[in-house]
Amino acid sequence: MIPGSNILLGVTGGIAAFKAAELVRRLKERGHDVRCVMTRSAEAFITPLTLEVLSGHPVYREEYLQPDNSGEELHISAAEWADLLCVAPVTAHTLARLALGLADDFLTTTALAFSGPLVLAPAMHTGMWQKESVQGHLEVLKGRSAHVVGPVVGALASGETGMGRMADLESIVLEVELALGDRDLVGKTVLVSAGPTQEPLDPVRYLSNRSSGRMGFALAEAAARRGARVVLVAGPVDLETPPGVSRADVVTAREMRDTINELALDADVIIMAAAVSDFRPSEVSDKKLKKRAGMPQLSLESNPDILAGLEDLAPHALRIGFAAETGDTLEEARGKLEAKNLHFIIANDVSRSDIGFDSEHNEVTVLGPARAPVFFSRQSKRALAVKLMDLFSEALKKREGAPAPTRG
Ligand code: CTP
Repeated sequence: MIPGSNILLGVTGGIAAFKAAELVRRLKERGHDVRCVMTRSAEAFITPLTLEVLSGHPVYREEYLQPDNSGEELHISAAEWADLLCVAPVTAHTLARLALGLADDFLTTTALAFSGPLVLAPAMHTGMWQKESVQGHLEVLKGRSAHVVGPVVGALASGETGMGRMADLESIVLEVELALGDRDLVGKTVLVSAGPTQEPLDPVRYLSNRSSGRMGFALAEAAARRGARVVLVAGPVDLETPPGVSRADVVTAREMRDTINELALDADVIIMAAAVSDFRPSEVSDKKLKKRAGMPQLSLESNPDILAGLEDLAPHALRIGFAAETGDTLEEARGKLEAKNLHFIIANDVSRSDIGFDSEHNEVTVLGPARAPVFFSRQSKRALAVKLMDLFSEALKKREGAPAPTRG
C-alpha cells in the first residue's frame, strides 16, 4: 500500500452513513489524509460537523459546487487532490448517477472530474440490490475498473435480514489499500502454492493435511494486485481463483513438486503456503479396500520436500515458507528457516481455533535470517496478505543484484 494517500470519501444517504465516521478514523489511523463529500440526503443521517471534526477538513457539501470567493472550482480541486475516491455507503441512486456520468451535485461532479481508482461500498435493501437496473449499473462501473466491496448479508434498516448491508469497515479499508496498491511488482513472477495435497490409498480414500488454502489464495491475490504475473499451484480446495491469477490444480505432493519445479525457473518470488503431505501410502490399491479383507496394514513412505529442493533449483528467487506449528512455534520455524535456507518463514500456531486452518483470520510472526521477527496481530487473511506482500516486495527491491543467502 501507499501510506499517506489522499482519500476523498463520498457519503450518500443510507442508514450506513453513520459508519462513515468510523471509516474516516480507520483510514486516518492507516496514515491517510481524508476529506469527505456528503450528498444532501446523507446529511439526514450524519452531520457534516462529525465528519469535519474527524477528518480535520471542512466537508464538501452541495453548495460548494458554486465557485468560492477566489473563483476556485472546488469540485475540480477536490478531484485533483484525491488519489482515490471511495463512496461508502453508495446508494442505488448514486450508483446509477455514477454509471451514467450524471453531474448533478458535488459528489457526482467531482467523480466525473476524477480519473483515479474508485471504491464503492453499496448498501441498500435486498429487493433494490437485486434489481436488474442496479446490477446493470454495477456491471458498467466494474467494467470501468471500479472496485466494489460488499454488500453482505446482515440486518437491514427495514428490520429484515438479507443481502444489502454495507461491507464491514475492515474490508472497505482493505479494498481502498488494494486499489491504491503500488504496482511495484510489474514485470515480476510470483509463484504461490496453496491448499493441502491428497495422497491416495485406494480409489475412495486418501491421506491429507488440514488446509483451506485461504492464506495462499490471499497472497496470490495481493501479488496480482501489485502487477505481478502470478501462478497459483493449488491442491484440492473450494476457492475461486483471484482475478488476474493463473492457476494449476494438482492433487498429490509429487504432482505439486513437478509443477512447481517447472515453474520455479522463471519465478522471482516463491511462496510455499501449501500444507504438503509429508508421507504417502507406499502402495495404492486400484480397487476399494474392503473391510471383509481385514484391517489393512498401512505402510508409508516420504514425499519430497518441495521447498527444500528449490534452493538448488531456483537460487535466484526469494523463497518463502510457512511453519504451521503446535509446539514452540518460533523455535520450530527458525529451525525450518535455516534447514531450508529460506529468505522468510511465516510462523503460526495452528493449535488455536481462532486463527489458522479453517479460519478467515490469522496471526503470524515472520522470521528471516539476520532480521528481527515481525509480529502481525490477528486479522483477516486478505488484510494480512497485503502486509506480507509489502514485506516481500521491499526485500525483493533490496536484494536485487545481491547474492542469495549463504549457509552460516
Ligand atoms: N513443505 C514442502 N514440502 C514438503 C513439506 C513441507 O515444500 N514435503 C513446505 C511447506 O509448504 C512450508 C514449509 O515447507 O512452506 C514447512 O512445512 P511444514 O509442514 O511446517 O514443515 P516440514 O518441513 O514438513 O516439517 P514437519 O512437518 O516435521 O514440522
